Amino acid sequence: MHKIAVIGGDGTGPEVVQEAVKVLDAAAKRYGFTYETTPFDFGGDRYLKTGEVLPDTAVEELRQFDAILLGAIGHPDVKPGILEKGILLRTRFELDLYINLRPVKLYPGVETPLRDKGPEHIDFVVVRENTEGLYAGAGGSLKYGTPDEVAVQESINTRKGVERCLRYAFDYTRKRDREKTLTLCGKTNVLTYAFDLWERAFHEIGAADYSDIKRDYAHVDATCMWMVKNPEWFDVIVTDNMFGDIITDLGAMIQGGMGIAAGGNINPETVSMFEPIGGSAPKYTGQGVINPMAAIAACQMMLVHLGEADAAARLDTAIEYVLSSKLASMQAGKMGYTTSQVGDLVADAVATS
Ligand code: IPM
Ligand code: MN
Repeated sequence: MHKIAVIGGDGTGPEVVQEAVKVLDAAAKRYGFTYETTPFDFGGDRYLKTGEVLPDTAVEELRQFDAILLGAIGHPDVKPGILEKGILLRTRFELDLYINLRPVKLYPGVETPLRDKGPEHIDFVVVRENTEGLYAGAGGSLKYGTPDEVAVQESINTRKGVERCLRYAFDYTRKRDREKTLTLCGKTNVLTYAFDLWERAFHEIGAADYSDIKRDYAHVDATCMWMVKNPEWFDVIVTDNMFGDIITDLGAMIQGGMGIAAGGNINPETVSMFEPIGGSAPKYTGQGVINPMAAIAACQMMLVHLGEADAAARLDTAIEYVLSSKLASMQAGKMGYTTSQVGDLVADAVATS
C-alpha cells in the first residue's frame, strides 16, 4: 500500500492534482497496486486564516508517507517568498530531499519555441542539487537600509552534499541507458572554490565507480546556449541548486512550457515530493481550463519513485498519446478540453490500451 500525502495548495493546484490522482487510480486498477491518499490544506488560504504556513507537526507527519503530491504554492494575497520558503523550501531542507529531478522532454505534438527542433532533439534530464548552494541561507547584512549597507549571500557546498548528488546523477545516467553521458554544469572559471570541489568530486567518483559513463563539462552560460542551439547534445546534466533552478526554467520552455513541466524533490531512501512546476495560476482558478498534464507527469515520476515501473511506463505512453493526438494546445483554455476531460483522456488511455 503506497501512502501518498496530497497537498493541493493554492490557485489551480487542487484542480490539477485531482486529475493526477484520477490517473493514479486508473494505474492502480490496471497494475494491481493499492494506495491511500491523505489531503493536507497547506497553502495561502490556510496561512491567511491561521497566520501559520506549516504547523510544527507537519514535517514529521509528511515523513510518514511514501510520497507527496504537490499542486502549487503561491497566493496573490500573500507576499512572495513566505509560502515558497515556508512550505516548499522548508520541506526540501527538513525532509532532506537532496535531488531536484527535472526531465526536459518534448513530447510529439507539443510545440517548442526552438525552430527546427523536435522530440528527437529535446530529451534530457537535469539533476539539480536541492539542499545547498545559495539556497542554504548563509550570509547576512550589515548596516541595513543605510548607504553603507553590505549584503553577503554565500554558496554552501559540502563534499557530502556534492558527492551524494553526483552519485545519484551517475546512477541515473547509467539506468537511463541512452548516451551514457553526464555533463557537469558549473562555472569553474569564476567560482573557483565551489566548482573546484564539484569538478574534483565529479572526476574522482566518475573514474572510480562509473567508468562506463562519459564525463562532460559545460559552464552554466554555455549550457544555456547549447540548450537552445543543440539540446540534442545532452543526456543528463548535473548542477548546483541555483544554476539548476535557472536552467530548468529554460528547460521547461523548450519542452513546451509550464503546462507540461514536472519535477521531483527526491530523497531516494525516504519520502519524496512531486510537483508540476508551473505555479498556481490564480486567475484560472475554478474555471476548469488549466492544463493538468504537468501534474499528471509529476504523478508519472512519483510512480517511478514508488517502484511501479510498469505503471509509470504505461502512463508515459498515455501522456504521449493524449498530447500528440488530442490536445490542441498546451495553454490554459486552448486545449480543446476541460481540465477534467484531459484527466479522463489520460486515465482512459492508461486503463484501456
Ligand atoms: C523551483 C522554484 C523554487 C526554487 C521557488 C518557488 C522557491 O522556482 O522549484 O524551481 O527556486 O527552487
Ligand atoms: Mn525555479
